[in-house]
Amino acid sequence: MKHHRLYHDLAHLWPLFSPPEEYADEAEIYLEILRSKLGPSRHSILDLGVGGGHLLSHLTVEHDATAVDISEEMLALSRRLNPTVQHHLGDMRSIRLNTRFDAVLIHDAIDYMLTEDAIVQALTTARAHLQPGGLLLVAPDWFRETYPGKHTMHWHQDYGDITLDVAEHLPDLTHDSTIVQSIFVYTLRQGERITIEEDHHTTGLFPRDTWLRLIRDAGFEVELLEVPSSEYGYGGNLFVGVLA
Ligand SMILES: C[S@@+](CC[C@H](N)C(=O)[O-])C[C@H]1O[C@@H](n2cnc3c(N)ncnc32)[C@H](O)[C@@H]1O
Repeated sequence: MKHHRLYHDLAHLWPLFSPPEEYADEAEIYLEILRSKLGPSRHSILDLGVGGGHLLSHLTVEHDATAVDISEEMLALSRRLNPTVQHHLGDMRSIRLNTRFDAVLIHDAIDYMLTEDAIVQALTTARAHLQPGGLLLVAPDWFRETYPGKHTMHWHQDYGDITLDVAEHLPDLTHDSTIVQSIFVYTLRQGERITIEEDHHTTGLFPRDTWLRLIRDAGFEVELLEVPSSEYGYGGNLFVGVLA
């Protein structure tokens, strides 16, 4: 059983699965935070786990950016969408670019950190790429407290002759589990041709207080902002940290 196919052999589905324009409202919130915390000028942003660069594509209007992802296929998508951004293949837990930025963004890619140690490693990477006073933005999709338990999320994207249906099956949790193993089924219809693919994703799930503690221990003054969440209640969490 192959994992995370959406970021590898099925990466061509990503722009259909979650198109760039759906990130516009969220990006506006990020831009407002960047303006209010760092001032109105053009700043440098490092995006760790850039994926297709959909969120980032709205930020480069006002800022310069560098991006990292562990998947060559996702980097290829982001390169196409964000030609002005420098892209690097690497793991957010260990990459060192020997450059410092005004802000480090770890959007939903942070969900792929499965242990507290992995989160600490990603935060250490963020810290290593910031000056004191630098800004950290981290956006896990769920907290232990907000995870709704066993359910299936369905969505449908229509692009004329092409449609994509997604069903994501999420499990109940065992008492002390910090991981969620979900199964995606993608149904792609192109004209008369229908393709069905299965994909398995493993993501981390931690209490709010664990996040706050880990971000503080990494040297940041942190606040948790509630931003509008998606239809199914995921997303909507944004940690804003300032490196002390
Ligand atoms: C949901 S996608 C990100 C989508 C992105 N927010 C966008 O706007 O297009 C998650 C990404 O995290 C990347 N990822 C997972 N683990 C990673 C790691 N350890 N280091 C860097 N990237 C990682 C995956 O390859 C994938 O591209």
